[in-house]
Amino acid sequence: MLPWELLDTATTPDGEGALTLNRRGDEYAIRIDGRELMSSRLHGSEESLAELGCAAVGKSACRVLVGGLGMGFTLAACNQVLNDQAHIEVAELLPAVVSWNHGELGLLAGYPLNDPRVTVHAIDVRGMIEAAEGLYDVILLDVDNGPEGLTQKSNSWLYRPKGLRRCHQALTPHGVLAVWSVHPDDAFAVRLEAQGFEVSTHRVGARGGRRGTQHTIWIARR
Ligand SMILES: C[S@@+](CC[C@H](N)C(=O)[O-])C[C@H]1O[C@@H](n2cnc3c(N)ncnc32)[C@H](O)[C@@H]1O
Repeated sequence: MLPWELLDTATTPDGEGALTLNRRGDEYAIRIDGRELMSSRLHGSEESLAELGCAAVGKSACRVLVGGLGMGFTLAACNQVLNDQAHIEVAELLPAVVSWNHGELGLLAGYPLNDPRVTVHAIDVRGMIEAAEGLYDVILLDVDNGPEGLTQKSNSWLYRPKGLRRCHQALTPHGVLAVWSVHPDDAFAVRLEAQGFEVSTHRVGARGGRRGTQHTIWIARR
């Protein structure tokens, strides 16, 4: 088997984590301190995040916030399902990830950053959520492996009552927050409901469809 090759390393803004881009043949992996955050091998559920989240608002022209960029599969699926009037803002914590996507990583999902409806910000998605009031029809969150901070400890704010309340306020009436996770977490659905969301939990195949490894997506409607 081919060995993994380290292509680049970026440090998280808190100085505590090392995000790496790795390649083995035509397979890519983004890791945080050695733990896999995203692999190019499995991206069906990342696409489902966009499909389920956008379908849940029931209109194709809308304003969407995507956090974070990763390998761009969620973004590419948004571009696919939304119409010409849509505005898609991407918040990506690390400028290096944006550069990787403008470079060789972009090939994986068809360079979705080049779509004229897309604006990318190298920023913590928390800042964009805190700055928004009734703005987004959809917020798609895939910044950790589940509803607890992994990329950086401060991401835990997003999944706790204060962060969830801010997400609720950042959405338009009937807007949708969709959150991706590698594992189920019943307590998280309860926390979403406690902030006034109407919640449905979806188990989706890591490769798309319903077979094989399953990931979890929460669709939380304001
Ligand atoms: C699992 S990957 C996202 C995979 C993506 N859904 C895809 O389809 O390829 C997580 C991404 O979120 C970014 N990230 C982590 N914390 C973030 C934050 N607070 N704000 C914005 N981006 C963040 C990471 O740098 C990484 O690029």
